[in-house]
Amino acid sequence: MNQNPRDILITSALPYANGSIHIGHLVEYIQTDIWSRFQKMQGHNCYYVCADDAHGTPIMLRAQDEGITPEELIEGVSTEHQQDFQDFLIEFDNYHSTHSAENRELSTNIYGELKDAGYITTRDVEQAYDPEREMFLPDRFIKGTCPKCGAKDQYGDNCEACGATYSTADLKDAVSAVSGATPINKKSEHYFFKLPEFEKMLKKWTHGGHLQEEVYRKLDEWFESGLQEWDISRDAPYFGFKIPDTEDKYFYVWLDAPIGYMASFKNLCQKENIDFDKFWAKDSKAELYHFIGKDIIYFHALFWPAMLEGAGFRTPTAINAHGFLTVNGQKMSKSRGTFIKARSWLEHLNPEALRYYFAAKLGRGIEDLDLNLDDFRARVNSDLVGKVVNIASRCAGFITKRFDGKLSAECSEIELYSEFVNAGESIANHYEDRDFSRAVREIMALADMANRYIDEKKPWVLAKEDGKEQEVQDSCSVGINLFRVLITYLKPVLPEMAIASEAFLNAGELGWKELESPLTGTTINKFKPLMQRVTESDTEALLETSLEMSKESLT
Ligand code: MSP
Ligand code: ZN
Repeated sequence: MNQNPRDILITSALPYANGSIHIGHLVEYIQTDIWSRFQKMQGHNCYYVCADDAHGTPIMLRAQDEGITPEELIEGVSTEHQQDFQDFLIEFDNYHSTHSAENRELSTNIYGELKDAGYITTRDVEQAYDPEREMFLPDRFIKGTCPKCGAKDQYGDNCEACGATYSTADLKDAVSAVSGATPINKKSEHYFFKLPEFEKMLKKWTHGGHLQEEVYRKLDEWFESGLQEWDISRDAPYFGFKIPDTEDKYFYVWLDAPIGYMASFKNLCQKENIDFDKFWAKDSKAELYHFIGKDIIYFHALFWPAMLEGAGFRTPTAINAHGFLTVNGQKMSKSRGTFIKARSWLEHLNPEALRYYFAAKLGRGIEDLDLNLDDFRARVNSDLVGKVVNIASRCAGFITKRFDGKLSAECSEIELYSEFVNAGESIANHYEDRDFSRAVREIMALADMANRYIDEKKPWVLAKEDGKEQEVQDSCSVGINLFRVLITYLKPVLPEMAIASEAFLNAGELGWKELESPLTGTTINKFKPLMQRVTESDTEALLETSLEMSKESLT
């Protein structure tokens, strides 16, 4: 155990329960998982929780389309999501749903606290209404002709053809995308959360070291244009939780979604006897981190801390936002085959290769990152196969065949070994700072050094000379020890390769602390290839599969 174990609760944004996980989502889940695994490796008391975001109009409508209940829909999707996450080695401590008893109770209570404290108000709102389906229409369910360029079938408030943005009310010949009926305007009473009352608190909080600089600068702009009251209710029919003391009003999905973080953790607490209040009470000393994409900053950096504050809970330690994934330099696109689902990736490629590539590209900021498939192949083949795995494969054969698997009784290059171990602190700091690309760069610089060492020693030449037995064993033992250090540092990124390496090294679990002394006189197991090269036909096949799947779903 670490000397000062920290209590850490980590979340990733809750994926919507109306679609499959794609590689854009995976940027976030992989980033969070690497950080969580790193914290656990340091001996901290760390939990990583998530859930499906199961409420809202799109989920209700999709269930109707499929002729099933929303409950049936979200159950099936949850199973699919969890299988995808598991296969990408995302290790949640709990995966729950926002449509759960815990979330209903917490949402109701938090709303009650906010209401009692005077932070809820009501007023009438006029909105587009589908008279045929008898439901209010969110913008994205209204389509019509672009008022600027005349392109037909444009959804909501922006035009795909000319890029214009406008109010949905300006769409020409607007129709409901649900029924085809012409929407009418209709009034109903809505419930609002009085966000402006938190302005002072939020200004302080957003500048209190909880946000990345780019993020609070953006928020400063929002403060300047003034905070607005937030509409937290939706009329029936809606799939969600009913607002207490109303007949036909529901909590807007974004009200109960972040509370879903708490609910998932509460569910875990009940299963494992963890003290919920230790993590959520106003005076909590535990750390709370939310990993999110930059598109949902407003919800997490304004509404959420205000809600928590207003209801008497602690606020997050930090919101860690990341950028968006592009593929081959462009937004993921169904027609180009670059809208790649997690499952399609798994059919053709190794999940750890994607984990490595994302790690090599992820920094602390919110810039977008690109998956260039040629660069991906080159990078994985050169770094992982060519550098890291190569060290073990070059040395293991000699040890196994000539020395019965036994490593030298002493480390013949203690200085070199120490240099590798000493780099551990800086690498750990980069992980802690979410600067994974720098961690990876330093690890690969060490891998280069290890390969240079083997190149200089040339055990394959020594092996043919008389009287060089000891040198062969020594240099190969050093190589294997250096490999052990490298794979330890990569363990948060490559958990499965680390497990296979633990079996090969035959010396227990890999961890920073365990590196203090090199392996000497112990016996390793037979080396099995740890990772295959990625070929061009693999990545081509991936794009083909994605294109096929997109054609099927483009209806
Ligand atoms: N349900 C909400 C989150 C509620 S959290 C209380 C949501 N769901 S989502 O499925 O649309 O997105 C889940 C996460 O994946 C978000 O953080 C989002 O930013 C992220 N990403 C979705 N597409 C992405 C990319 N193309 N690239 C990187 N991240 C992306 O938002
Ligand atoms: Zn247009």
